[in-house]
Amino acid sequence: MRIDAHVGTGAMSQSSAELLVAFAFEAETLSRWLPEVGDEEQWKAHLVQALEREQFKAEWLKWWSTLTWGHPPAPRLVIMGMGPRGEFSLDRVRRAMGQVSQIAADLHASSLAVDVSMLETREVEGLGQAAVEGLALGGWQFAGYHREVQPPAADADRRMAADFYLGAYSAEAFRRGMARGETLAAAQNMVRDLGWTPSNRLYPQKLAEWAEKEAAPAGLEVAVLDEGRLMELGMGAILGVGQGSVHPPRMVILRYRGGGKKTLALVGKGITFDSGGISLKSSAGMEDMKYDMLGAGAVLGALRAIAAEKPAIDVIGIMAIAQNMPSGSASKPGDVLTAFNGKTIEVTNTDAEGRVVLADAVSYAVHLGADFIVETSTLTGAAIIVLGHEASALVATDDHLAEDVLAAGERMGERIWRLPIYPEYKKLYESNVADIKNAPGRDAGTITGGMIIAEFAGEVPFAHLDIAGTAWTNEGPLNKKAGATGVMVRTLTELAQRLAASSG
Ligand code: BES
Ligand code: ZN
Ligand code: MN
Repeated sequence: MRIDAHVGTGAMSQSSAELLVAFAFEAETLSRWLPEVGDEEQWKAHLVQALEREQFKAEWLKWWSTLTWGHPPAPRLVIMGMGPRGEFSLDRVRRAMGQVSQIAADLHASSLAVDVSMLETREVEGLGQAAVEGLALGGWQFAGYHREVQPPAADADRRMAADFYLGAYSAEAFRRGMARGETLAAAQNMVRDLGWTPSNRLYPQKLAEWAEKEAAPAGLEVAVLDEGRLMELGMGAILGVGQGSVHPPRMVILRYRGGGKKTLALVGKGITFDSGGISLKSSAGMEDMKYDMLGAGAVLGALRAIAAEKPAIDVIGIMAIAQNMPSGSASKPGDVLTAFNGKTIEVTNTDAEGRVVLADAVSYAVHLGADFIVETSTLTGAAIIVLGHEASALVATDDHLAEDVLAAGERMGERIWRLPIYPEYKKLYESNVADIKNAPGRDAGTITGGMIIAEFAGEVPFAHLDIAGTAWTNEGPLNKKAGATGVMVRTLTELAQRLAASSG
């Protein structure tokens, strides 16, 4: 959906939009926002009566709506509950606006007037970002492949106009935020499309082509390493994972040149389908493994957003793309692969394929001269056991980088929880025949996954973000349907901004 967002002028009560939107907090008097939705005393009295009769309490995400019959001119009003003011956050604004977007769509309204003046925050830019971002995320829908059912109009063809009424807030700061929100939402929605697309339509070559298609208009340099090139470079790890599939692996290198002193490498796991390989997964829920490429998706989305925001830092994006399939040519448990940096990996379980493709990608990031490496992947089921679907897991070798990642996530409303690296865990992935084995036991599974990948970062500060639980959700107000979230696009984009600011 295209969002046409502006700062409203004059009084919101005079807006000619199809839908007026006001926010309300639990246990607060209506007088805080009533003036914004109309001046007529009788209309206001009716509103108050109706809200009381229907016992609207402004609980979080509970909303109330009424026709206005011409008092104010806008035909309909929605009041969105924000819960207690003490629980206010910009992420709540994002989610609430996602809900508003869907309500507007249900009511066939394509123009909104939104009063944000009662959302009290000192972060006006963040407010503009969250409001516009929520609107665009909530309005997104995956078109699907139905024959009979008319698919919804292509996302890009649908439009929503929104005027935001700011009260005393700075329009300049709010506008900066709106621009940021638009950029980030578009990148996240692109990633959500990637996550939904099934693997017969998105196998490694297709994902690489998708990245190439995104790169040009974004102003990113792009290079695709095909299987021949991967062989020449000695990337035995990703080739080993992909050798069971008729669709050979790819590695995509994206570059944004922001001209700073430092280089940040963002690395993502791009398994277009994870069947487990010879260590085959059970069938229940296996269809979900089409989203095992959302780490690579997040890297592509972040690079696109970074190229739009232009922080003063060089950023390399590396997408490690393969399809993990069982077949006569597939890697087998016990096989030993050699990664780009020469380290050997005993494959004790072909279903622990993510860390194997990332071994090549992360050591290649070192080779390309990265000063920081941040890698993200749907790496372990254990991450879902630890944190459920509420937070991504961080495993980092460097405290400063970890702090920056956590701060970026905090600022962007993406929850991240750091797990420890204790040297004792190392023995869990020792191998008798190779430098490491890819699949230790279940103990500390998310941590050992991250530590194994960190082995390939050498001395470069390294952070691993396991998004197995957060890249895909079975609920959520931003989209009525379950599905891909686009998680880490915001955090990685903000991280580039932070590192640019701190490394000059
Ligand atoms: N892609 C999976 C992890 C996953 C599970 C992502 C559920 C999203 C939802 C990964 O490749 C995998 O299979 N991991 C194994 C590792 C084990 C064999 C060491 C796991 O988590 O069981
Ligand atoms: Zn996987
Ligand atoms: Mn797997």
